[in-house]
Amino acid sequence: MFYTQSNQKTDVLATGLNGLVGSKLTASLDQYNFANIDRADPQFPVDITNIDQVKAAFAKSSSKVVIHLAAFTDVTKAWEQKGDKSAIAWQVNVLGTQNIITAAKETGKHLIHISTAYVFDGDNSEMYTEDDQPRPIEWYGQTKYEAEQLIKQSDINWTILRIDQPFRSDPFVKLDTAHRIIEGIKSGKLYPQFTDHFFGPTFIDDFVTVIDFFIRTQTQGLFHASSGEMWSDFDFALLLNQALNLGGEIKSGSLDEYLKSLNRPYQKNTALNCEKLKQILDFKLTPIGEAVKKISF
Ligand SMILES: NC(=O)c1ccc[n+]([C@@H]2O[C@H](COP(=O)([O-])OP(=O)(O)OC[C@H]3O[C@@H](n4cnc5c(N)ncnc54)[C@H](OP(=O)(O)O)[C@@H]3O)[C@@H](O)[C@H]2O)c1
Repeated sequence: MFYTQSNQKTDVLATGLNGLVGSKLTASLDQYNFANIDRADPQFPVDITNIDQVKAAFAKSSSKVVIHLAAFTDVTKAWEQKGDKSAIAWQVNVLGTQNIITAAKETGKHLIHISTAYVFDGDNSEMYTEDDQPRPIEWYGQTKYEAEQLIKQSDINWTILRIDQPFRSDPFVKLDTAHRIIEGIKSGKLYPQFTDHFFGPTFIDDFVTVIDFFIRTQTQGLFHASSGEMWSDFDFALLLNQALNLGGEIKSGSLDEYLKSLNRPYQKNTALNCEKLKQILDFKLTPIGEAVKKISF
């Protein structure tokens, strides 16, 4: 909801605050007075693909930063739109981001943009660093990569934070990476977990504190902001099963086999090296082994 309050809290403008990550941000950072750019707001609806609405929302806000979380995040549906720049994935992720850049420039706001490890092709055997060259292999990753490029080519102040497979301690209406596995174990319907697919889980409870760091410091540049750890699906499921005493049976599977039946490309490894971020943070990220113990379901 778009709102302002006359209290002593610092105003922070953002997009996507009703989503998986954004709703944790507002629930956790009580020191800020968040204003959400929200297309469902009854009084002041703002669709980020509408430049006039975006400009009006920015003009209303005294925030020095804008946190840009809003995106079309359904990777499978995005693949069905491959190459179609008039379809929603491109419109929201690329045109929408261009509108945010334009309004940030007009109002002098620092842009904190949330991006994804899916900008990479997934062929690395190691964790990806900020120096690795992106090469998206599917349409969602392509649109998020194009958005990054627009920001890098702009002359505004910016931070790009890439994350991968986020999960939070509490359940949310959209199941995250951890809660999807937990639900699968509990219902006895968990698919075999890949031993040959790797990712870098992002503990959202930590990530919102990372975002707070960038609100406070407005440090510029590109940062990988997951846990800095690399897990296979199978090992992560085993960890959840054990840490949360779920008592399920985790069967192993192979991504290579699954890919034979999948009609879209799938990155084999999206784990992110976070050393650049860890060197500047004024707090320590929670190891994934500890983070999963905080999960409720
Ligand atoms: N979830 C992941 O696995 C993942 C992984 C890596 C990176 N990321 C990135 O992290 C960010 C947050 O992801 P998330 O999972 O929290 O997203 P999410 O749960 O799918 O939420 C997306 C948010 O964007 C808003 N939105 C979509 N289209 C909009 C439009 N045209 N105008 C205004 N708002 C619009 C949605 O508003 P409504 O509530 O009105 O629909 C929703 O609040 C995204 O930038 C995503 O690319 C996510």
